[in-house]
Amino acid sequence: MKLIIGNWKMNGNLDEKNFLFKDLSNTKTKNKIIMCLPFTLIGGENFGITLGAQDVSNHENGAYTGDISATMLKDAGVQYVLCGHSERRLHHNETNEMVKEKATTAIKNGIIPVICVGETMEEKNAGHTIAVIKKMLSESIPENGEYIIAYEPRWAIGSGVTPTNSEIVLAVKIIFDTLPNSMPILYGGSINATNAKEIASIPYVDGLLIGSASLKSETFLPIIKTLD
Ligand code: PGA
Repeated sequence: MKLIIGNWKMNGNLDEKNFLFKDLSNTKTKNKIIMCLPFTLIGGENFGITLGAQDVSNHENGAYTGDISATMLKDAGVQYVLCGHSERRLHHNETNEMVKEKATTAIKNGIIPVICVGETMEEKNAGHTIAVIKKMLSESIPENGEYIIAYEPRWAIGSGVTPTNSEIVLAVKIIFDTLPNSMPILYGGSINATNAKEIASIPYVDGLLIGSASLKSETFLPIIKTLD
């Protein structure tokens, strides 16, 4: 069984959600599918699909206009939440410390955080991949509770380029060895129906985090099928 997490980012509308979710609910698979939707699409009819969010406030509640708390997500039926996706780190200056707070708040409220880590192309070229991953992990994983780690090299996200299998195995093995307890580890970045099976079968890879290919049945269902 592999974990397959779809991340819609800031894309999609209600019709597109209904269309994909109906198809997903009719798809028999031994894999676990989780869909991380924009906040506005989280409520309503979910056709039995497991829901994730793409961000959560590091605060419990209060005067934080525009933010969404873990209790609100829980209330809306969310079971998983992405924490520290590289686009949040890049565009919203999220630090490892904030990511740890977000993940901790999620866990406290019964939501499993999916903590994203990964190096930039500059860091990769400088030979710093392992050091970057280790620092991100040591500063952003919560003290207790269950979580998931997603290894997403920033340069592989939305680029159509993926690391080699040996680069992935090196990174995920470092993650596996660094975590104090055994937690699922995902790979994310430019996954499609052609590369999904091979990447998901790399040792220590428990599943995939999928962006653009998760938006439509035509691209997402073949990935699910290839992992069955
Ligand atoms: P991508 O995005 O599959 O479109 O590269 C992955 C992600 O950002 O989680």
